[in-house]
Amino acid sequence: MIENPDLRIGLFDSGVGGLTVLREIYRQLPQESILYFADTARLPYGTRSQEEILQFVREILDWMSVQGVKMIIMACNTSSALALDIVRREYELPILGLILPGARAAVRQGKKIGVIATPATAASNAYRQAIQEIDSTAKVWQVGCPEFVPLIEQNLIYSPYTKEVAQTYLQPLFRKKIDTLVYGCTHYRHLDGVIRSLLPSSVKIIDPAEEIAIAAEKELGLMGLKSNKLPLPTRFCVSGSPRQFAQLSRQWLGCFPKVEKIYLRESSLSSMTLRPIE
Ligand code: DGL
Repeated sequence: MIENPDLRIGLFDSGVGGLTVLREIYRQLPQESILYFADTARLPYGTRSQEEILQFVREILDWMSVQGVKMIIMACNTSSALALDIVRREYELPILGLILPGARAAVRQGKKIGVIATPATAASNAYRQAIQEIDSTAKVWQVGCPEFVPLIEQNLIYSPYTKEVAQTYLQPLFRKKIDTLVYGCTHYRHLDGVIRSLLPSSVKIIDPAEEIAIAAEKELGLMGLKSNKLPLPTRFCVSGSPRQFAQLSRQWLGCFPKVEKIYLRESSLSSMTLRPIE
């Protein structure tokens, strides 16, 4: 049982997508201290198998457990869709995912729901299941968008090619006359300007990042783990190049962050004993 409200919240993604969740945490939970991890050496996650994603997620959770966090936020839909249910049974830490908060928000807004996501999240059907469990009359269409994450990570957000690709991915959803669009990948909020320029103004956009921050606040409150001190500076860690991450993320963070390089497997090996024996 974690009892120290001064510990950080661990937040992870494959790359800069999780920064859209971080921004919401800063906005809604400004007193919390954050440990941000981006698995940039192994991105994109969205074209990987469930087995691989599960292994990566376990390595990250093991490492974060050693760092000492009070809660983990999967700022990654792909991990939330493919690994959350499994790892929740393996770790004592509270672990939050994006699918359920995103689904809840979507059914509050509409009945004809489009979800754009990574190929792995779309193929998992996680959003359709979660949405239809809440409202069985809602219609859901999920589109896998394999090119988005590489384009964002290469900082090609404003290239005309990205807009063309977005148009192609959104077209089938336009044909279905959706009333609501879910950003089913945390990276996609970085494309908000491009996507909104293509979308009819009547379509409502759901960003599950906003919802997960609300869920995190509720959960911390229930567990008596809300921080009431000033936050520590966010600790940024990556498995790939710290410089590349710092350069790319600067546009969203408003500063050039200090980024540490982490070797996950070595640290997770030394933390193996922390995983409860089943
Ligand atoms: N940002 C992540 C997500 O929400 C992962 C994207 C990727 O690495 O493919 O799914």
